[in-house]
Amino acid sequence: MRTPYVDQNACIGCGLCVTNVPQVFRLTDHDKAEVFDPGGESEDTIQREAMDVCPVSCIYWQE
Ligand code: F3S
Repeated sequence: MRTPYVDQNACIGCGLCVTNVPQVFRLTDHDKAEVFDPGGESEDTIQREAMDVCPVSCIYWQE
């Protein structure tokens, strides 16, 4: 299984990933996204609904 992670230095806290895939992503107190449940959604959904739409493309797969 591949694990998604957020580069928090690049994240601008737009919240799109959290809105689209709330089973995997949440916002921290500092308005940065973080992964709290890597297996909360299918890889496909994470790719399409979070990674592909993040305005700064700061969500990656950790192999
Ligand atoms: Fe940040 Fe991108 Fe999500 S900017 S809040 S990781 S959609």
